[in-house]
Amino acid sequence: MKVPQLLLAAVLASALLLQAAPAQAHQPDGKHPPGQSKQDTLRRAAPKDFKIGSAVAGGGHHESQDYPDPFTFDKEYRKLLGAEFSSVSPENQAKWEFIHPEPGVYRFAEMDAIVRFAQKNKQAVRGHTLFWHSQNPQWLEQGNFSDDELRAILKDHIQTVVGRYAGKIQQWDVANEIFNDDGTLRTADNIWIRELGPDIIADAFRWAHEADPSAKLFFNDFGVEDINAKSNAYLELIPRLQAQGVPVDGFAVQGHLSTRYGFPSNLQANLQRFDDLGLETAVTEMDVRMDVAAGTEPTAAQLEKQADYYQRALEACLAVDGCRSFTIWGFTDKYSWVPVFFAGEGEATVMDENFTRKPAYYAVRDTLRSAARR
Ligand code: XIL
Repeated sequence: MKVPQLLLAAVLASALLLQAAPAQAHQPDGKHPPGQSKQDTLRRAAPKDFKIGSAVAGGGHHESQDYPDPFTFDKEYRKLLGAEFSSVSPENQAKWEFIHPEPGVYRFAEMDAIVRFAQKNKQAVRGHTLFWHSQNPQWLEQGNFSDDELRAILKDHIQTVVGRYAGKIQQWDVANEIFNDDGTLRTADNIWIRELGPDIIADAFRWAHEADPSAKLFFNDFGVEDINAKSNAYLELIPRLQAQGVPVDGFAVQGHLSTRYGFPSNLQANLQRFDDLGLETAVTEMDVRMDVAAGTEPTAAQLEKQADYYQRALEACLAVDGCRSFTIWGFTDKYSWVPVFFAGEGEATVMDENFTRKPAYYAVRDTLRSAARR
C-alpha cells in the first residue's frame, strides 16, 4: 500500500470506529450541534417500508425572501435533506406557475435537480401538484380560452410533466384542495372545475395514469385531518370515481396544524375509513405553527405541545396499514412558509433556524424508532 492509500485507510478506519461508537442521545459530538450525530437520523429510525419526507425549499414565498434558493445554495440544508429523509416533495417547483410559466414553455431545471438529488440519496419523490386553484400562471387564469383549448392545455400539462418523471415519482398529488370546508366543490376558484365541470377531475387522474402507470395518484387537502364535511366529501367522491374505473390510489391529509386549536383527534379513524376503501393514505405537509411575538422565543411548554402534535399525527399514520408516507412541510424554521402566510405565527417545523433539533424532532424520531421495533 502506498503512503496516501495508507493514510486514507487510517482515516476510513477511524471514521468507522467513530460510527461504531454507541449513539449517545442528545450528546454533542463536537462536529454537529447537540444530538446531531450523522447516524441518528429520521430515515434511519423509520420502519423499512415507511417514508419519512420533507418539502424541498424553493420557489413560492422563498422568492420574496432575502436569501438565495435554499435547495440550490444552502449546503448545510442540502446535507440534512439528504441525510434525514427518505422522501422529498417539491414545495413549489412542480406547481403550474413554476414549471409552466408561459404557454407551451416548461421550466424543468429545478424539478430535474430535485429528482436527481433524490435518486442520488435513494429517496422517493412525491409530485405536487397538477390540478389546483392556486399558484397558476396569469397566462392560464386570464387567458380566456375556450373549453376545448382548456382541456387540451390541462391534458398536455399533465402528460408532459408526469411523463417526464415517469417511473421516478412514488405518489402524485394529482388534485389539490378541490373542496370547500363545507364539502362543496371549489367551483368558483378552481378554473378547471368552473370552466369544464366536475368531470374534469376524473380526466386529470386518467391522463396522469396514462403518463405514468406506476405512480400512485392522490387527492390532497388541508382541513381534512378530522372526520368533517370536507373529508366526508372525499369519502363520497372517491368510491364513486373508482366505480367508474378512474385510477385513484390515495387520499392525503396535508396536516398544517396550529397549537391554537386542539389536535384533530379523529385523525386515525379518518385515515382508517379511507384505508377501509382499499386506498393508500398519507400525511403530506405536516407542520405545527404557534403564536410567537416578533423577536421572542417559543416557551418550553409551546415546544412540548408542538412535539405532542407531531407525535400524535405520526402515530395515527403509523397505526393505519396503508399510511406509509409522512412528509413534513420543510424541516427548518429558517425556510418555513408559516411566518410569511400566518401573521404572528411561526416556529412550525422540527428544527430551528440554525438546524438545531427541537423537541418535535425527537418526538418524530422516537416515534419512528418504536414503530420500527414493533
Ligand atoms: C405553500 C408553499 O410552502 C409556499 O412556498 C408558497 O408560497 C405557497 O404554497 N397547501 C399546499 C402547498 O398544498 O402547496 C402550500 O405550499 C401550502 C398549503
